[in-house]
Amino acid sequence: MEQVEIFEVGPRDGLQNEKQLIPTADKVALVDLLSTAGFRRIEVASFVSPKWVPQMADSAEVLGAIRRGQGISYAALTPNMRGLEGAIAAKADEIAIFASASEGFSKANLNCTIDESFDRFAPVAEAAREAGLPVRGYVSCVTDCPYDGQIDPAAAARVVERLLTFGCYEVSLGDTIGQAQPERLAAMLDAVLAVIPAGKLAGHYHDTAGRALRNIEVSLDKGLRVFDAAVGGLGGCPYAPGAAGNVATEAVHRRLTELGLSTGLDPDILDEAAAFARQIRGASDA
Ligand code: HMG
Ligand code: MG
Repeated sequence: MEQVEIFEVGPRDGLQNEKQLIPTADKVALVDLLSTAGFRRIEVASFVSPKWVPQMADSAEVLGAIRRGQGISYAALTPNMRGLEGAIAAKADEIAIFASASEGFSKANLNCTIDESFDRFAPVAEAAREAGLPVRGYVSCVTDCPYDGQIDPAAAARVVERLLTFGCYEVSLGDTIGQAQPERLAAMLDAVLAVIPAGKLAGHYHDTAGRALRNIEVSLDKGLRVFDAAVGGLGGCPYAPGAAGNVATEAVHRRLTELGLSTGLDPDILDEAAAFARQIRGASDA
């Protein structure tokens, strides 16, 4: 059966937007549960400014306390050198730099232009390479931006190309606000696939408009075989107003299975993790 990988981003993208601080022990328990589900990669940390994203301030503690499953890569976001130093000290297995296809979101999320963000990423990617850490790249707002509106597919392709020159082993395409129409997503993918093979791409779709599963199917048709998702469909981005959660891991698993594809994940553990993720979020809402 053909394999499709789900990259679990719930402990990072799923939780980063929660207003009330979730106890570190709950985050660790969630990651430990996810580590038994069959994932090869789990994003658990984000070494960003705690003033910008207070929920991720305990990222080093989380990385220090989890029970690491054999062969699982535990990933962290690193926007700059300070973030990279934190990720290396906490023994993240891989890091991610995150750019935007739109100037408006770059400014809101990173407080700089797209060009300036690449000036910051250059030494990060270089030092990560020297430290032997794989670097993943993200592109936010590949089709729609909460500030700039619809994005030209060529703009997404340009940012993907720049991330590749930084040595990213994979680039994850973010429908940050979950507004991508399947036809426009397909057009964006065509532009991106002109500069990068499908095997180096991942789809990272938020489910605000309920089209993420449809967009995953469009992406499968274009050859993508890696999708980011968050258990329980948690999430949102603090700098993307209206962004709902990532598409739910358990829903992606179900759809891929219906399509005759294998994720290698244990559906019972996914359901258990989804319930636990909702519970720790619910407790923080109270
Ligand atoms: P800045 O204000 O332009 O830069 O922020 P700065 O260098 O002047 O730093 C501001 C303050 O942050 C200073 O502290 C720094 O020391 C501190 P102060 O002097 O005010 O006390 N600082 C840091 N602290 C801890 N770790 C660091 C760090 N760097 C600086 N690494 C900065 C620039 C990048 C720091 C800021 O804009 C930031 O943290 N942005 C992160 C925003 C974020 O995390 N967004 C969510 C993740 S992206 C996402 O969710 C999208 C994705 O899922 C894909 C998709 O869906 O599209 C990936
Ligand atoms: Mg996201």
